[in-house]
Amino acid sequence: MKVLVTGGAGYIGSTTAKALESAGHTPVILDSLLTGPRAFVRDRAFYEGDIADRPLLRRVVDEHPDLDCTIHMAARIVVPESVAQPYLYYRDNVAKSLELFDELNSLGKPRVVFSSSASLYDTPASGFEVGEGSPLAPQSPYARTKLMMEQILTDLAAATDLRAIILRYFNPIGADPDLESGVYAREPSHVLGQLVLAATGKRDAFAITGTDHPTKDGTGIRDYLHVWDLAQAHVAAVERFDEVVQETGTTSTVVNLGTGEGVTVRELLATFADVFGRPVPTVEAPPRPGDAVGAYANVDKARELLKWTAQHTLADGIASALAWNEKRADVLGYP
Ligand SMILES: NC(=O)c1ccc[n+]([C@@H]2O[C@H](COP(=O)([O-])OP(=O)(O)OC[C@H]3O[C@@H](n4cnc5c(N)ncnc54)[C@H](O)[C@@H]3O)[C@@H](O)[C@H]2O)c1
Repeated sequence: MKVLVTGGAGYIGSTTAKALESAGHTPVILDSLLTGPRAFVRDRAFYEGDIADRPLLRRVVDEHPDLDCTIHMAARIVVPESVAQPYLYYRDNVAKSLELFDELNSLGKPRVVFSSSASLYDTPASGFEVGEGSPLAPQSPYARTKLMMEQILTDLAAATDLRAIILRYFNPIGADPDLESGVYAREPSHVLGQLVLAATGKRDAFAITGTDHPTKDGTGIRDYLHVWDLAQAHVAAVERFDEVVQETGTTSTVVNLGTGEGVTVRELLATFADVFGRPVPTVEAPPRPGDAVGAYANVDKARELLKWTAQHTLADGIASALAWNEKRADVLGYP
C-alpha cells in the first residue's frame, strides 16, 4: 500500500514511515519541517510544504495516484506553547487540518488515520483506566485542538465519503529500533526525557512534580508505550482500514493506543534505575499548573479491531531512549 504521512519528519511520523516500509508499504512524506528534522526523512518520497497547501496536495496525488490512505500526524504539539500562543495552535492544528481533509475528500482519497491524544480524557472518578467512551475534559489549547479535530473528522465522515480511524495515543517513549530517529527536542520536556537528562548529569536531579495524587504512591500515573509499538498500530490501522469501518458499522471510530498498564512516576524511576544500573537523583516538587494525575488505556478496542497489542516492556522503552540518547548527536548534529 502507499500511504501519505503528514508530519512524517517528526518523532512518531518518521518511526511510522519506517514501520510501513518494514511491512512492505511505501510512505510518502508531507512535512513543512516546522519542527521535524530533515535527517528523519531519509531517502523517502518527500514533499516539503504545508498540509493546507491545496495545490501541493493536488501535486502529491497527481504524482501518487495510487495513495491508499493518509496518516495525519502533522501538528504543533507543545502544551505550554499552546497556552501562550493559542492562535498558532487553532490555526495550524484545526484550520489547516480542515483544509487537508476537504482536499483529500475532493481528490477521492477518503481514508484518514488521525493522531489524537489521551490528554483529552478527564481524570477518572475511580481507578485510572479510561476507555474510548470515558468522559473527556481537555485541559490545554493543544488538547482542545485534538478534540475539535476529532469532532470535525466525525462530522465530515458522517456527511462525505471520508472515513476516519482516530487513534488516541498514550505516552510514547523510546526510539526507532535502528536508532535512526527518536526524540529530537533540544530540551525534551516529557518525563522520560527529563529522566535521561538527570541520569546523564545534564540536570542535578529529576523533579518528581506532585507527590499527593490519589495513586498508590502519590505520584502521577501514565501509560508508556514504545514508539515502535505505536508505529506498528498505524500499520495495522492502514492494513485493516476497510475491515474496521465495516466491523464498527460507523464512518469514524476512536481507538486508544496504550499498553493497558498504569505506571506511576516512582515505578518509572525504579525501572529506570534497573535499566540504567544506578538510581537517578530526585527532588520532590509541587505539581506544575495543569499537571494531570493521569490515566492508562483500556486497550480492548485496539485488540479487537486492529488485532494489535503492545509487545515491548517499559524496560525496553527506557533502554531504547537511553540508546538513542547516545546516538542522537550523530543523527541530529546536536547533543
Ligand atoms: N509525542 C507525544 O507524546 C504525542 C502524544 C499524543 C499524540 N501525539 C500526536 O502525534 C502526532 C505526532 O507527534 P510527534 O511527537 O511525532 O510530533 P513532532 O513535532 O515530532 O511531529 C510533527 C511534525 O509535523 C510537522 N508539521 C507541523 N505543522 C505542519 C504543517 N502545518 N504542515 C506540514 N507539516 C507540519 C512538523 O514539522 C513535525 O515534523 C501529533 O499530531 C501529536 O499531536 C503525540
